[in-house]
Amino acid sequence: MADIITVTVDVGQKENLEEIGERAKQIGAIKHYLIDAKEEFVKNYIFPSIKANALYESKYPLSTALSRPLIASKVVEVAEKEGAFAVAHGCTGKGNDQVRFEVTIKSLNPNLKVIAPAREWNLSRDREIEYAKEHGIRIELKKSIFSIDQNLWGRSIECGPLEDPDVEPPPEAFEWVKPLNQTSEKATYINIKFEKGVPIAIDGEEKKPVDIISHLNQIAGKNGIGIIDHIEDRVVGIKSREVYECPAALCLIEAHKDLEKLVLTRNELFFKDIVDSQWAWLVYAGLWLDPLRYDLDAFINSTQERVNGNVRIKLYKGNYRVVGRSSPYSLYDMNLATYGISSKFDQSSAGGFIDLWGLPTRVAHSMLYKMKKK
Ligand code: ARG
Repeated sequence: MADIITVTVDVGQKENLEEIGERAKQIGAIKHYLIDAKEEFVKNYIFPSIKANALYESKYPLSTALSRPLIASKVVEVAEKEGAFAVAHGCTGKGNDQVRFEVTIKSLNPNLKVIAPAREWNLSRDREIEYAKEHGIRIELKKSIFSIDQNLWGRSIECGPLEDPDVEPPPEAFEWVKPLNQTSEKATYINIKFEKGVPIAIDGEEKKPVDIISHLNQIAGKNGIGIIDHIEDRVVGIKSREVYECPAALCLIEAHKDLEKLVLTRNELFFKDIVDSQWAWLVYAGLWLDPLRYDLDAFINSTQERVNGNVRIKLYKGNYRVVGRSSPYSLYDMNLATYGISSKFDQSSAGGFIDLWGLPTRVAHSMLYKMKKK
């Protein structure tokens, strides 16, 4: 029989983390590690994802996905320190998390064996709950109709009634986002200051990275913002219905994208859009440690040098909308954009521009027109 050492990594899941350690010892673990990785999570995982405007399939801010390589790296650290021959996790064989954990663990230490009981014993969710009961492992049954994963960047809710994609999620699925009939009748405005693509202050007050995220989760959630309900393509090929609460993530990515539009050129924006979606795909698919992710980060970081400024967002009854932005690197030129008399834009050159710009389209269109007539 092997000795078991358990590890809990605090990524802001706001569970009773002390109790998890006690429970582990009760059922036979010889040692338990509780590792606070909140700051590292925000600085090294969440912030890069803001710079990459990371939304998988244009919707999901990767809240669960981003935490996995960090948790896996902490587990490997402990395994190496303790001289473990194997690490075990509780993921099933259907999801993305097994991929994320195992690719990271195997990349960091190819000698570690990975044990995945839920997958290897082919346990269903009901069977897992039964197994826990049979073996005196305490679990919260009220919560267990849903499978929840949460951290600072969001809350993922799966299973139970959510498995039918045609059924609206019941109110009890949500914890972070207030129902609209309980939100304020007055709009809330927040001002977010960015430096090199990451948020550093809210409403003029500089805050620590972890505090910025929790603060925004709280005010946006209070205004009914943050629910995502979409059909997601998992790495293993399954389509699934996924429901999330990500108030801070949605507001921050929207604000960041908006500021980028003020300071980056059209060419940069077009290209970055492609890079951003590749970045989100790699991270979703468990390839955090792939060299391509570092390559994409190098490009992204170079663009972020100028992403400094302030973005003002209006929060009201489930809506978030950028209503103002400013930057010392702004490329917006009032003298060019104005329709007023003061405009410096020489309209007389537009006619010639249109002649040349449209030339290939005109030539092709008239050729096709002639062919059709034949
Ligand atoms: N579909 C999401 C992802 O792949 C969420 C997974 C959530 N895990 C859970 N145990 N509920 O990142």
